[in-house]
Amino acid sequence: MTNSQKILDRRRQFVPNGIGIFNPSTAASATGCIITDADEKEMIDFAGGIGVVNAGHCPPPVVQAIAEQASKMIHCSFNVASYEVYMELAEKLVALFPHGERTKVMLTNSGAESVENAIKIARQATGRQAVICYDSAFHGRSMMAMTLTSKVGYKTGCGPFAPEVYRLAFPDKYRYGNGMSEDEFADFHLQELDNFFNTNVAATQVAAIIIEPVQGEGGSNLVPAKYLQGLRKVCNQFGIMLILDEVQSGFGRTGKWAAYDHFGVTPDISTWAKSMGSGMPIGCVIGKAEVMDSCQPSTIGGTYPGNPVCCAAAIATIKYMEEIDINALGEKVGTITRDRFNKMKEKFSAIGDVRGLGAMMAFELVKNNDPFQPDADTCKKLIAHCAANGLIVINAGVNGNVIRILSPLVISEELLHKGLDIIENGLKQILG
Ligand SMILES: Cc1ncc(COP(=O)(O)O)c(C=O)c1O
Repeated sequence: MTNSQKILDRRRQFVPNGIGIFNPSTAASATGCIITDADEKEMIDFAGGIGVVNAGHCPPPVVQAIAEQASKMIHCSFNVASYEVYMELAEKLVALFPHGERTKVMLTNSGAESVENAIKIARQATGRQAVICYDSAFHGRSMMAMTLTSKVGYKTGCGPFAPEVYRLAFPDKYRYGNGMSEDEFADFHLQELDNFFNTNVAATQVAAIIIEPVQGEGGSNLVPAKYLQGLRKVCNQFGIMLILDEVQSGFGRTGKWAAYDHFGVTPDISTWAKSMGSGMPIGCVIGKAEVMDSCQPSTIGGTYPGNPVCCAAAIATIKYMEEIDINALGEKVGTITRDRFNKMKEKFSAIGDVRGLGAMMAFELVKNNDPFQPDADTCKKLIAHCAANGLIVINAGVNGNVIRILSPLVISEELLHKGLDIIENGLKQILG
């Protein structure tokens, strides 16, 4: 029995089945864009710990910052005693992501926690309760975040869910575009929102609209620019908080620090995590100062948020990202991947759509060229083929039929092409 098989056996014995297995691989160590498995096999990593290691696995300056901070102070709770690294990180985040004239930041432990707090803040800021979210959205697995999440496979049996949450159709051009131009499609969906305020919930009752500028788990679905700009106007008109969830799309993934920078839209509140700390559990909520300050004391916070070691990791990660120009790397990885995916689409009719922004790229597998016939089976076989041939890759999409790339952005062109070759050969073998 291999070491990997032993690990998976022990996992089955001691760990609940409910924690999903997205890939059959194991991991003993990781550096750059390579994971070494429990049997010393080197794997190219196209999953990046689910979009967490944009700056690569174990960047040396981040490892050093973690070690130095751990030897000084691991924890004292920011609620109990204020400390410098929290402020240093908050200040840096405000400089990178200004939300209007004055911006404030609260640190969290994860993406879901960022989303939970963003909703609490929006409700206190507006004195309203309703929250609008979208089909195929993913916002996390805590109770409010799970309520906002669309895919039923992530939530069946976990209800009752949070009340006063309303869901709109995501402007999904691949499935529902019907030959409309992107702007026409955006206008149609903005009109739908207008109707929604008459048929589902009054605009004056809505605290927040939360949306991912590029849906990650949903399958790299890009919001039409005109739609996001239209949402900004609607939110301004009715005093609704626009919350942009950048947990997966932030920190260089799309070729910019924030995906919303592509759209010329500034949110009232935004949520972050994943690549911010190179794998240390840290996230944040960023918002306009007056919005963030509308919260009653102790309604937000917790024991661990802004843990000093995580803060040190995030400060070092951002500094390192600036040094290596993470956004240029995101753009480069994205251009190469898009080009290769488009070429694969010409060869394999099973690829129904290639889409994404920057290096947040994906392709969707369908049967008979039909967007409404998702091919999760081929997707599963492809992931297994890749794992057997030295590439870790994960799926996405509410139907599990989307292959997405979340590789470290520090990946060399050679390894990127090698990984893409493994995918292409897999498609050849599986589809014939
Ligand atoms: C857009 C988005 N929001 C929130 C989350 C939840 O983050 P976490 O898993 O850190 O709770 C995710 C995770 O994939 C995400 O992609």
